[in-house]
Amino acid sequence: MTRVGFDSTYSILYFRTPPTDEFAVRNMELPGFCPIGPIDEQPLHRRHIRTQDIRHGGDFLTARRTLLMNDDVRVGVCKPDQPGKDWFSNGEGDECWFAYEGGGLLETIYGPLEFRKQDYLIIPKGTPYRLHPEGDKGTFLVFESASYIDVPKQFRNESGQITMDGPYCHRDFRMPTELLKFDEAKHGKGPYPLIVKFNNRLSVHEYKHFPWDLAGWDGCAYPVAFNIRDYQPRTGSVHLPPTIHITFAGRGFIICSFVPRKVDYYDNGEHQAIPCPYGHASVDCDEILYYVEGNFTSRKGIEQQSISLHPMGVPHGPHPGTYEKSVGVERTQELAVMCDTFKPLMLTEFAAGVEDKDYHFTWVKRENEAIETSK
Ligand SMILES: [Fe+2]
Repeated sequence: MTRVGFDSTYSILYFRTPPTDEFAVRNMELPGFCPIGPIDEQPLHRRHIRTQDIRHGGDFLTARRTLLMNDDVRVGVCKPDQPGKDWFSNGEGDECWFAYEGGGLLETIYGPLEFRKQDYLIIPKGTPYRLHPEGDKGTFLVFESASYIDVPKQFRNESGQITMDGPYCHRDFRMPTELLKFDEAKHGKGPYPLIVKFNNRLSVHEYKHFPWDLAGWDGCAYPVAFNIRDYQPRTGSVHLPPTIHITFAGRGFIICSFVPRKVDYYDNGEHQAIPCPYGHASVDCDEILYYVEGNFTSRKGIEQQSISLHPMGVPHGPHPGTYEKSVGVERTQELAVMCDTFKPLMLTEFAAGVEDKDYHFTWVKRENEAIETSK
């Protein structure tokens, strides 16, 4: 399994059964996931997509719903209520799953990987896997890269080791430690279909023999789990840009973690920092936030599992009253996943179906709305 041609990280996989002896190949479609395209009508405004309104149903594959997309990344949710059935492999790029509630088991060709609530799972491009949510129910935010998802360059030294001032350590990343064992009760009698995604199409490859119980593997390409609460946040005496929360990077996008932390602490006895972020126009980025836990100092009307999309082209900033409310606050308990993209994100039909269409205008201060102040 080689990446970036033969020039980047790779793993050597020792197969018991050749992974090349499919006896049948057919096409299939999964509505809401693949094939998928953006809707035609996309006025430029700030958006609030209420993923909390999406119902649970299906397994890790059939429950996938793509909400936002561009050429570099697709963002969706998956709310399964069943264990994983068929195996899947994304031939387009790496995937990053964020487990909003509950853990589970990621079964992969590299071995099983147990995950916990609020873990990120990075699944390399071309990895056959299936996912079983704990208690057969889960809620996931899913990023599909058209390229790779890696630890950003600035956190790696010339040998690839994570630097000492990075926001995490090697030990924070968990990998499969055992090989996958074939078990007829669990994996069935066959045939064994592998659903492969490539070029916005799905194809089903049928195997007579179970091909994913390797005799062994070694190398540097494999899935990992990383818990968002192991992310070491940075803070400053005055407000630092959101990129200090960077966790993973792909081509044309970054994934950031907002975790509980001390907020901006400048205080010279006369002037204090205002912890609430400034309004800004990030003219080259679309910004999405997935709200996980805690109160956001800058937003009102946003709930857990909400996704906000603040597009390039129009400025955005805290809601009225939130600056005043933030003065004197020392810590935030907020937990959120952010993604900045360099190409605009377009909504799919499924996102439009759960959009709070009034969100763009919620910055307008109503006549009868009192400004909330801190104590
Ligand atoms: Fe922003």
